[in-house]
Amino acid sequence: MSDSLQWGGRFEAAPDAPLLAFGSSLEDDLVLAAFDVACSQAHVATLAASGIIDVGTAHALDAALRMIADEIPSGEFAAQARAIGAEDVHGAIDARVRTIAPAAGEWLHAGRSRNDQVATTLALYARDRATRGARICATIAQFALASAREALADETVLAATTHWQPAQPILLAFWLGAVAEMFLRATRRFNRVAADAREFCPLGSGACSGSTLPLDRGVAVLELAFGAPSRNALDAIGDRDVALDLLHAVARATLSASRVSEELVLWCAPAFGYAQLDDAASTGSSLMPQKRNPDPFELVRAAASSANGSYTAALASLDGLALSYHRDLQETKAQVIRGTERGLAALGAFAAALPHVRWNAEAMESRAGDGYVVATDIADALIACGVSPREAHALVGNAVGVAEKAGRALTQRDLTALAKAAKLTETLKAPLDALASVRAKQTSGSTSPDAVERALDELEEVLERETGNSPR
Ligand code: ARG
Repeated sequence: MSDSLQWGGRFEAAPDAPLLAFGSSLEDDLVLAAFDVACSQAHVATLAASGIIDVGTAHALDAALRMIADEIPSGEFAAQARAIGAEDVHGAIDARVRTIAPAAGEWLHAGRSRNDQVATTLALYARDRATRGARICATIAQFALASAREALADETVLAATTHWQPAQPILLAFWLGAVAEMFLRATRRFNRVAADAREFCPLGSGACSGSTLPLDRGVAVLELAFGAPSRNALDAIGDRDVALDLLHAVARATLSASRVSEELVLWCAPAFGYAQLDDAASTGSSLMPQKRNPDPFELVRAAASSANGSYTAALASLDGLALSYHRDLQETKAQVIRGTERGLAALGAFAAALPHVRWNAEAMESRAGDGYVVATDIADALIACGVSPREAHALVGNAVGVAEKAGRALTQRDLTALAKAAKLTETLKAPLDALASVRAKQTSGSTSPDAVERALDELEEVLERETGNSPR
């Protein structure tokens, strides 16, 4: 039995080196090292409390595990794990413990399988990364909220688009409020994952059916701050639901960041000119000296595809997989970790780049009324006077067509003409400019300054509650 492997007693030949290397998950699961140390410490406590190892052995194992914990941040542990050709992080820690405390080290794996270790460390990882995700998304939401409040004070308006065509005037504060809403939801999603990852502790499940050793599983539950031991060992070692939920939350949050990024990339283009990215967040061209590129937002836009690719790959790796552990789950784990690490990095970069955006209110406002964006309000005004929506739509559409041919905006004269065409006795009152349009909105959840203020107040309250709810 090779010293770096945890098996081999029954084999007559040494493992084929390329196949062993292909089967190694070390590069993917080294990120789990600290979680496996915690999991191993909880197992030592379980073994000691259950009378399977003596106090001296428990102390020696604990000391070795603490030493390994100290070796992780510097990369020293990773270097050693690579040097011995460990099959995965779990085997690497076991081997390192046996090097530091040879006699005690022989006992660490009592009543334990890598299967329940993988499941437990993945739950701890999901808890940690979901908490990190929630923190980043809450930061983004808080920043968008604060920026929205500033923009609201200025009543900066711009033309919202649908299909990228001018649609209706909105406040910049309203757009920023939308961003805050997206990341409030992302925060909540991450918090739910973190809570789920605290529910059941798989440790003590053994390979798939439990253990004949009298393991007191409640010890690990307390040590690792879970709610209860898992109820079914077969399910516990093969379940990847929380890991998938984590990756799903990451993929969904990066998707939101990607959509906002797309808009910001366009807004930073001189053709739009609504925004400019500070030098600190922009990059130049190696050839064109004049260039100033919004690369962070382009990278975030693309990072969502990677996270979603990992999520799809992780789901696909489970398709048709029978219950219990199969080596395919190693691939699931790799996708969860890769997608999560890359996705969280992208979310962090998005949070860091946002404060570098400078809004160009003048550019927004100078074009806020272009493209007949008040047409809906005029149609609404006709409807309020009793004209049917169908007729109002047709009349205003016709007025837009006439004005467009003449190369001018809609004016008071058009309102008078419309009133006449609709045979109204009263004068038609409707907003003709962008600011008047947003101020005229009457519904809750609309872009009117009052509605936006109320929405931001409510959002702030929910966000505070949500961040207060974060498990750590
Ligand atoms: N490297 C494996 C993984 O990450 C460890 C579990 C191995 N278990 C087994 N029964 N071979 O999934």
